[in-house]
Amino acid sequence: MIPKLPFLSLLGWWIAGSIAVQAQKRTIDQKVDSVLRLMTLDEKVGQMNQYSGNWAQTGPITGDDDKLQEIKEGKLGSMLNINGVRHTRELQQLAMQSRLKIPLLFGQDVIHGYRTTFPIPLAEAASWDLTAIERSARIAATEAAAGGIHWVFAPMVDIARDPRWGRIMEGAGEDPWLGAQVAAARVKGFQGTGLGHTDAVMACVKHFAAYGAAIGGRDYNSVDMSDRTLWEVYLPPFKAAAEAGAATFMNSFNDLNGIPASANSYLQRDILKGKWKFTGFIVSDWGSIGEMIPHGFVKDNYDAARAAIMAGNDMDMESRSYTKNLARLVKDGKVPVERVNESVRRILKKKFEMGLFDDPFRFCNEERERRVLNDPEHRKSARDMARKSIVLLKNQDQLLPLRTNVGKVAVIGPLAKAKMQMLGFWSTEWPDSDYIVSEWEGLRNKLGAENKLIYAKGCGIDDSSRANFGEAISAARQADIVIVTVGESRDMTGEAKSRSNLHLPGVQEDLIRALYETGKPIVVLISAGRPLIFNWTADHVPAILYTWWLGDEAGNAIADVLFGDYDPSAKLPVSFPRAEGQIPIYYDHFNTGRPALNDSDRFYRSAYNDLSIYPRFAFGYGLSYTSFSYSDLRLSSKSLDAGQKITVSFKLTNTGAYAGEEVAQWYLKDEVASLVRPVKELKGFSKVMLRPGESASVQFIIDQEKLSFYNRQLDWVAEPGTFELMIGSASDDIRLHSKFELRK
Ligand code: BGC
Repeated sequence: MIPKLPFLSLLGWWIAGSIAVQAQKRTIDQKVDSVLRLMTLDEKVGQMNQYSGNWAQTGPITGDDDKLQEIKEGKLGSMLNINGVRHTRELQQLAMQSRLKIPLLFGQDVIHGYRTTFPIPLAEAASWDLTAIERSARIAATEAAAGGIHWVFAPMVDIARDPRWGRIMEGAGEDPWLGAQVAAARVKGFQGTGLGHTDAVMACVKHFAAYGAAIGGRDYNSVDMSDRTLWEVYLPPFKAAAEAGAATFMNSFNDLNGIPASANSYLQRDILKGKWKFTGFIVSDWGSIGEMIPHGFVKDNYDAARAAIMAGNDMDMESRSYTKNLARLVKDGKVPVERVNESVRRILKKKFEMGLFDDPFRFCNEERERRVLNDPEHRKSARDMARKSIVLLKNQDQLLPLRTNVGKVAVIGPLAKAKMQMLGFWSTEWPDSDYIVSEWEGLRNKLGAENKLIYAKGCGIDDSSRANFGEAISAARQADIVIVTVGESRDMTGEAKSRSNLHLPGVQEDLIRALYETGKPIVVLISAGRPLIFNWTADHVPAILYTWWLGDEAGNAIADVLFGDYDPSAKLPVSFPRAEGQIPIYYDHFNTGRPALNDSDRFYRSAYNDLSIYPRFAFGYGLSYTSFSYSDLRLSSKSLDAGQKITVSFKLTNTGAYAGEEVAQWYLKDEVASLVRPVKELKGFSKVMLRPGESASVQFIIDQEKLSFYNRQLDWVAEPGTFELMIGSASDDIRLHSKFELRK
């Protein structure tokens, strides 16, 4: 029993604490109102306006005098693409010349690192390591904040099931549940212990919403989907990010069922600001308010501005629709001033929470910038994250790991010595590529000597010529092992980088074939921002590592995995198709009335007559140098009532020769429901480290939440009936099964 007195005093502290929190909140709201009362309509509109700076990273801020003048007049709330404290200070000084001295917010696309480039987000998601993902975002935030940035345009949490869409690289893949965990981890990482600390930046969750479902995988394209799919597949990561306290959201370029996201009040007002009670602000995507004109949704920027603000879009990035029209719209009686006030309140509130009204220069510390941007610990974390992101797709006859006394190693391919390519799209540009470890350098570092390596380029990434194959073949002949490093170039996947052909570009697969014919043992490394198609390689080559774009420490991380200093543990966060014709392909599809049981079962079945229905590599798949067995499944009960729980446990054993981590995944299927349910849905996972021979008991809980889905009325419900439980090493490698019943 808790003694009375300490309990009362604890209660007292708690009450005093919450009063203090309330007082603090009230104070910020009151402060916001006191500023708002002083503002002219033009100044209010100015706060809702964001421009990009196009000044070089070094050198003085010159030109663009109109923008600079607007800052001095208090007609700008925020800027993006301003790099470095020197520039943010200079611009903030201009803002301090304005009548009300409202500080500027500096935003930046910090997608996978600021000074230290981490793996692309899709690669990080492959780690299934939420702590490491949060740490990566934390480091990015620390560096960005030290560089004068207050606000990062991340995390991108769009579910993507179409690898033709180049922006698949920015998200966490195809699964809503995994996507939600990663989204929350990234928000926590960026915002750290909370806004107001000088190492915390505001997260901006994007792109709200459903941008990942662009028709045909073509960027900026329309999205047409049912409410059920929206709520069940595309919204969960946004909801999780809002619940994790994300400060801001960005809407998106696409229209959703005919209404552009920037003017979509169902998304912004009803769901985000309404149902989810989001108190931050929403910024448009770049120019997206103005782009409603070519969409055919509004006739001019005047109408565009009205449609956007009425739908809940608070800040206009770069379309200048607000700055040119909002004041007039208010004067014409087309937009109530209260709508403007609402947006300005939301924006000012964040500026207060960031502490910028107390000290507009608190993110402008050159000494901190120098120190934090050169912190060697950040590189260590980048290497760790990169190793965790590499997926071992194939390892026939245990070709990997290599021994350091392997003999001569031929390193062949267009990416072998590449540096900038290792960064991938959306990296923050720095002039020195010395910072990046190429694959060649990583191998040299590992082997301790360059004379153990032989290099040949073989071909360029996108070449159609085989002219240099001969040199590559002779390099392979001199070697004991051949490492072929192929893939995309960094500008092939990213924004506006949709592709219809996802095969390894150029003659790279022919190069692999030519080297394979030498009879030498071959390991293929594939760098890319999306799932590529490489069936011949997958069928023939004994060892394949998917190395995505891993950032500054790419070479070292790859060498760590190749030589077994790290046992690969990553699992694909997205299905890899066999052919473009299978797209979209994802594991949690519905069953049809005529499901095909296998690839021979085609007669009047839901199948392709000319292609397998299965992906080349399934969601959740990834090998290790060791092996794991699953056994002893126990359920605390085979049935539950609403409000009750089942505890599940099973034994996981490392049955191989290496210490390693397994990502044990569990899935559910609701067997009969009032809406058709997926064949399986990921509901949880445990990443467990085990030494050879070691076992662990893994436990998890099934409760009503895990059994719920959005019904026809979009209510979140669990319906009584039977559920199948599947536990395994991948979505297509289920090792343990059971069934249980939800009674009522
Ligand atoms: C992208 C956003 C990005 C913005 C600012 C847009 O083109 O869609 O994701 O944050 O540009 O750079």
